[in-house]
Amino acid sequence: MSHSGIIFPGIIACFAVSLAATVIIPNSQLGSLSPEIKEEDGRFVDAYPVADLSLAARGKEVYVSQGCQSCHTQVVRGNDTADVERGWGVRKTVPRDYLFENPPLVGAGRLGPDLANVGSTAWRNEPADDPYKPVKRDAAWQMLHLYHPTAVSKLSNMPSYSFLFQKHRIAGSGDKDALTNLPKTLLPEDGFEIVPSADVKALVAYLLSLDRSHSLKEAPAVAASAPAHK
Ligand code: HEC
Repeated sequence: MSHSGIIFPGIIACFAVSLAATVIIPNSQLGSLSPEIKEEDGRFVDAYPVADLSLAARGKEVYVSQGCQSCHTQVVRGNDTADVERGWGVRKTVPRDYLFENPPLVGAGRLGPDLANVGSTAWRNEPADDPYKPVKRDAAWQMLHLYHPTAVSKLSNMPSYSFLFQKHRIAGSGDKDALTNLPKTLLPEDGFEIVPSADVKALVAYLLSLDRSHSLKEAPAVAASAPAHK
């Protein structure tokens, strides 16, 4: 007896059932899930669950959206290269450094310095000015640098990110985050101040969080100032 008449419909049925069970039904149950938002009188009260996005994590999104990774790597190459000598890190970076990074921003090119440790090396040599004069890369430095790179690094060819800042008329005692280290030539007219946007505040928090100096078993620190391995 020939069963050829049911083989083909049987195969189709197998695929259809598998597709429904693994894709269509789960997608109809979960695909359109979004956080539950509670509102009272049209005003937002509460949302659950919320993504765990710290300021630095939000800053990482800004970093990616602005394409910083096209000019900056976050990879300190082997201990015997110039990277450690330049002060870009106290050891080479290894896969463990990127464990919770999604995506890891190893970068595409090095038009600018490596940023793998830009938050930990609080002091770096000033490239354009006096190479032996260490300059502190704190939040105020990062802000001014993003606003107008040549204000802190004379020969910089990094693009200005001044569009991430706003010029505000000074109200009351002024905005507590307004830039206070602007050189005279960049000061706005009287009665105005330059205020960083939420995006640039997050970006600076991200830059200051970049620290891969922890001494690891597979990559012990080779330069001095490394924190002790715990
Ligand atoms: C077109 C290439 C280019 C792009 C895009 C770029 N940079 Fe730069 N960056 C440079 C160059 C060149 C320098 C070195 C001169 C200087 O300090 O400005 C630099 C320096 C830096 C430094 C100082 C590092 C140090 O220790 O000296 C930081 C921090 C930095 N960039 C962050 C960023 C961020 C954040 C972005 C994205 C918003 C970005 N860069 C986009 C080229 C670039």
